[in-house]
Amino acid sequence: MSTFSAPAKLILFGEHAVVHGQPAIAVPVSSLRATATVHPDDPGAGLHIDSADLDESLPVTIESSIVDNTLTLTARLVLEYLDQSPPDATVKVTSTIPMAGGLGSGAAVSACVARAVAAAAKCVLDQAVLNELVYRVEKLHHGMPSGIDNTVVVYEQPVCFQRGQPIEILPIEKPFTLVVADTGISVPTHIPVGDVRRLFEAEPGRIQPLFHAIGQIACEARSAIISGEVPSLGPLMSRNHELLKQLTVSSPQLDQLVNAALHAGASGGKLSGGGRGGNMIALVTPETVQPVEQALAAAGATRVFHTIVS
Ligand code: PMV
Repeated sequence: MSTFSAPAKLILFGEHAVVHGQPAIAVPVSSLRATATVHPDDPGAGLHIDSADLDESLPVTIESSIVDNTLTLTARLVLEYLDQSPPDATVKVTSTIPMAGGLGSGAAVSACVARAVAAAAKCVLDQAVLNELVYRVEKLHHGMPSGIDNTVVVYEQPVCFQRGQPIEILPIEKPFTLVVADTGISVPTHIPVGDVRRLFEAEPGRIQPLFHAIGQIACEARSAIISGEVPSLGPLMSRNHELLKQLTVSSPQLDQLVNAALHAGASGGKLSGGGRGGNMIALVTPETVQPVEQALAAAGATRVFHTIVS
C-alpha cells in the first residue's frame, strides 16, 4: 500500500489578471491535503477510484465514456500517457481541502490521484508531465485556466507564474503569516473568469490597464518576498483587492471580511482565487493573528485558520 498527497494552495497576488498574461504569485498550504492511497486488488479486478469524501466509487476503463468526471479523467489521462491498461488496484482518495473555495482542491485531488494511478501501474510521473496532465483536467472545469493552480500544487513550492514563461520558484526570505477566512459561498471558478473575459472584450480600454496594474503589484510583491520586506506586502494586498473589485469579482461578503480583518489590525487583505465567494486572506503578525481571526469569525466567516508562508 502506498500513499501520495498534494497540498492546497492560495493565490497571494494576481488572480484573474494571470489568465490574461500577467504574473501572479501562489503558495502551497501544506497543512491541508488531498491524499490517494493505492490498494492492490486481485488479478482481473481492474482499476477503481474510491472517494468517500466525494461520495463516489468509480471503475476506470480506458474507453470510458464518462468524460466529465475529474477522477476517472485523471486516471485515464495517466494511463494513456503511460500507454498502460488499467492496473488491478483501488485508489482511495480523501481530502481535507474545502471544495470550490479557491484553495485548489480540484488540482490537489487530480495530482495525488495521478501519482497513485501511475504507482499502481508501477511507474513514476515526471513533475513536468504531471503538471501538464493536471492542467488538462483543470481545463475541463475552468475552461481556460491560467495554469497557476496545477503548478503550485504539483511543485508544492511558492511560485511566481506567468503564462508562457518558465516556472519561477520563489525563495521566501522571511516567513510571514496569513489568516484565511471562508465566506462559505461556493462559486465555480469558470463563472467569474468568464465574466471578466466578457468585461474585457466589451471594454478593453478600461480593463487592460486594470490587468496591467494587478501585474505590477505582483511584480512588486515578488521583489518584497524575495528581499524579506514583509510589511510592504499588506498594502499591496489591499491595492490588489481594490482592483479585483473593479473587475467585479469581489462580493459584499468578501469586502466585509477584508474590512473586518483590516479593522482588527491586519496590514492588508484581499480575496484569493476566483472570487465572488470562497476565501479571503489577510497579512498578520504574531500580535494580530488572534484578534484578526476572532474578528473574521464575528464578521460571519464560516471557517478561519492561519498559515505560515515559509
Ligand atoms: O481556482 P481558483 O478559484 O483559486 O482561481 C484560480 C485563479 C484564477 O486566476 C481566477 C483563474 C486561473 O485559471 O488562473
